[in-house]
Amino acid sequence: MDVLLGLQWGDEGKGKVVDVLAPQYEIVARFQGGPNAGHTLEFDGIKHVLHQIPSGIFRSQILNIIGNGVVLDPIVLKREIDGLAKFNIDYKKNLVISKKATIIIPTHKLLDAAYEQSKGDKKIGSTLKGIGPTYQDKIGRSALRVGDILSDDFQEKYDVLVGKHKTTLSYYNYPLDALAEMEEQFFAAIEFFKTLNLIDSEYVVNDAFADNKKILAEGAQGSLLDIDFGSYPFVTSSSTMTAGACTGLGVSPSKIGEVFGIFKAYCTRVGSGPFPTELFDQTGEDMRKEGNEFGSTTGRPRRCGWLDLPALKYSIMINGVTQLFMMKADVLNIFEEIKVCTHYELPSGEKIDRLSFEISEVDAKPVYKTLKGWNCSLANIDSYEKFPVELKEYVSYLEDELNVPIKLVSVGPDRSQTILR
Ligand code: GDP
Ligand code: IMO
Ligand code: MG
Repeated sequence: MDVLLGLQWGDEGKGKVVDVLAPQYEIVARFQGGPNAGHTLEFDGIKHVLHQIPSGIFRSQILNIIGNGVVLDPIVLKREIDGLAKFNIDYKKNLVISKKATIIIPTHKLLDAAYEQSKGDKKIGSTLKGIGPTYQDKIGRSALRVGDILSDDFQEKYDVLVGKHKTTLSYYNYPLDALAEMEEQFFAAIEFFKTLNLIDSEYVVNDAFADNKKILAEGAQGSLLDIDFGSYPFVTSSSTMTAGACTGLGVSPSKIGEVFGIFKAYCTRVGSGPFPTELFDQTGEDMRKEGNEFGSTTGRPRRCGWLDLPALKYSIMINGVTQLFMMKADVLNIFEEIKVCTHYELPSGEKIDRLSFEISEVDAKPVYKTLKGWNCSLANIDSYEKFPVELKEYVSYLEDELNVPIKLVSVGPDRSQTILR
């Protein structure tokens, strides 16, 4: 099984690359996260944003698995499936969902909002899709799982959980006015959910290995949002790294093949938390405009900044990345000079290139290396040989620093704007 992961703070372009690579696989599987993800695919002049459905769904020969590690919102799932109606996708055949995946219920979303509100200016900047509270219940051993919707006492289990949530919500003084309508939608979506293909996905995955089928695990979010290794507490609530693909699908670590690490040629972050190379000037503004950096799930403007090598090295290390894919190179077309952060300088003057526990507490200033930009369009480029020399230099500089080959460079959002090396 190969694993594809975002190495930064999410939105690196994972959806696009999964769609490009999918024909090489029989199965594409999501293993963590949920509707906080927004994975964009563009082909044949159409643009789609997927939240919970794996990005192999537009390829009719591929089985798409939503694994046990995912948290699923039935309302969002129904909406996503309805939104894809015109593509005549055979959901019975091409999409299966683990009975062990966890369900996001309406009060999880209210709790998400209540927790954020209570944090004031220390808020995480959550997508408010209920992710944190749902994983909290999963780990707390009181969550509802997909398989539960088939049991006769589902309503009873639901009521017990909602009862607990209401107690917490009243502690936070959070209004319940929206709940009745959300529940109506939820139970309608549950009826629809029951018609989908609900399975024990760990068997499907391991049987596929036995049949020599190739699986691509599609990460959501990014390594710097990982619950253990991200900039805690400004993280998501799941394991976004290679190891998460093992627990989120029921796969042995020995089955991991290639680890594709996806990064933007610069950095973005949506939501709160440390971002050492963030730009607050016109350059950052230009990056956001050129890269159309607005959240695929929430529409929020993404914070933008130069590439951060210490952070990228860290992500490569914890994931065991074997191949790098550099995305959105075309966004840097507009700059005469490109900066890359090689180290952080501490207030003491010491230069470091490691992400220590304390790093987010101290005022670490980025130390930059400046490279010459290519400053021209990449529009008609269809091979690596045709890249401007400065872009080739950027790629080789990064390869030297990161010690992992950059095997794919993306030069536009469309499926076709992808250069393999
Ligand atoms: P994901 O969450 O990692 O799948 O990424 P998102 O879909 O949230 O955000 C990536 C955005 O960049 C989407 O709007 C993509 O269509 C777009 N995109 C992907 N690759 C490229 C690229 O090489 N160049 C440009 N300009 N846009 C890209
Ligand atoms: P994809 O898969 C970018 C961020 C949120 C917030 C933090 C916690 O599209 O790359 P959560 O809703 O999980 O409680 O939010 O994580 N975040 C993402 N940022 N891309 C994502 O997914 C994200 N999913 C969550 O903005 O800062
Ligand atoms: Mg996204």
